[in-house]
Amino acid sequence: MWRRYLMWFAHEHVDFRHAEMQSILTLFNIPIKFVEKPCVLKPYWIVELPSEEIVKKIASRSVLIKNCIELWGRAKTESQLHENLRSALKNDTGEWIMQKSCNADASDRHICPSTLIQACCSADKSFKVEVETFCKHFSMQEKIAKIESFSYLPLEGAVKLKNPDVTLAYLEFYGVDPNNVPEKPYDLFFGKWVADGQRDLIQVHSLKKRQFIGNTSMDAQLSIIMANQAQVKAGDMVLDPFVGSGSLLVAAAHFGAYVLGSDIDFMMLHARTRPTRVGQKVRNKDESIRANMRQYGTESRYVDVVVSDFSLPTWHERLMLDAIITDPPYGVREPTEKIGIERENYTLSEEHLVNHIPSKVEYGLSHIYRDLLNFAAKHLVLGRRLVCWYPLVREEYREDQLPWHPCLKLVANSEQVLSKLTSRRLLTYEKIHDEVPDVPIDHNGGVHNFREKYFCMGEQTRRERKEKRAEEMATNAANRALTVNIT
Ligand SMILES: C[S@@+](CC[C@H](N)C(=O)[O-])C[C@H]1O[C@@H](n2cnc3c(N)ncnc32)[C@H](O)[C@@H]1O
Repeated sequence: MWRRYLMWFAHEHVDFRHAEMQSILTLFNIPIKFVEKPCVLKPYWIVELPSEEIVKKIASRSVLIKNCIELWGRAKTESQLHENLRSALKNDTGEWIMQKSCNADASDRHICPSTLIQACCSADKSFKVEVETFCKHFSMQEKIAKIESFSYLPLEGAVKLKNPDVTLAYLEFYGVDPNNVPEKPYDLFFGKWVADGQRDLIQVHSLKKRQFIGNTSMDAQLSIIMANQAQVKAGDMVLDPFVGSGSLLVAAAHFGAYVLGSDIDFMMLHARTRPTRVGQKVRNKDESIRANMRQYGTESRYVDVVVSDFSLPTWHERLMLDAIITDPPYGVREPTEKIGIERENYTLSEEHLVNHIPSKVEYGLSHIYRDLLNFAAKHLVLGRRLVCWYPLVREEYREDQLPWHPCLKLVANSEQVLSKLTSRRLLTYEKIHDEVPDVPIDHNGGVHNFREKYFCMGEQTRRERKEKRAEEMATNAANRALTVNIT
């Protein structure tokens, strides 16, 4: 029997909520019915799903879900919620009853079947009630008073605060604006807790505690979202061709994939770059992507990383990948470069060959994304996904100018705002055709001059601001010294 659930989300990365859920639903082939249309201003969805097992499956993947509740009651006021629950105790129809309200101030009444409540009430089922409020804080005393207001429920089991058989949840929603919190909640919910989402992973995988990180390491939450967008599952083979410190591989390996990566930066892959952590002078000997995998217990899924320039063919023709997840360089915090030389007809003498470090030339963003989409079209298994970030000047964004390829269908596109002027979009492409030739570079794409625009608009990195300040201070000090000398 389909049941009604409240999916309570974290109120961050709101633009990614629908995309993440959709990816998880299609990954497990889960049908869903919306009881009301999702709204970005509300951190919850009310849905119907075929079973509790399915709800647990969704929660086992989503990092944006806080928890999932089997809904017993929902109302606009406390008294109405209690009235609905009391009526539910008498609802023997086995179905939800909807009663239209004739009072304009009151909401329609949704009364759950009594069987849902009765199933949790027997004497052998210990229970506890948790109170959660969104955008308002209540003292323990106030929470206890709220819990006691449900004492009419025929719960016969013992109260047990640690690991009870049943956890009941009471939630009050006071809107999303902390500067404009109403006296009374907008929405109230009561039901049985079913599962928590994967919010704990954000702490477990936090960059703060990770052994090896770099300047552009992707944070844990976004990395997990990317792995979900890519529908990564156990046994998949996943590549990040701009791997850096390997954050995206950590997330993919967590969901059971075998992971491999490549990066042009030898120093990065060998953890010889300047330490990223404040106060750390030299890198520890055991810093590496493999060490990160070991830290999270996924070393057995680490295939390898190689130093290689993505603009050059590195991989075997027949390499097939289940997912490509990547964050290419934007030219802001790291250069967009590929191996090459501006001079024509350049040849290297025999004697210089051994220790030669190749020179680099600009690898424009349009070229990077053309190469990335061509590579994905060739090396992805049909039906599988490429997930990549794409930087933008917000006011210039046009969906029809996003990178495209006839083999790849854009299935999700979520924006993360970086500043007033810039953002990046997480693009998810699904391979829909095989055997299509490479596409040429798209000169209409709005990104190829992202770097110039970024700096023209006065956007600077923290390091650059710091360097500029230090430069100004040095100049001032030199000027002062000069003035003293002159005088
Ligand atoms: C935004 S960073 C990726 C960060 C990574 N997601 C992480 O979590 O550490 C982009 C990476 O692309 C690499 N890169 C730049 N140009 C490249 C090229 N031509 N081929 C391969 N990698 C390149 C840079 O060295 C850098 O590590």
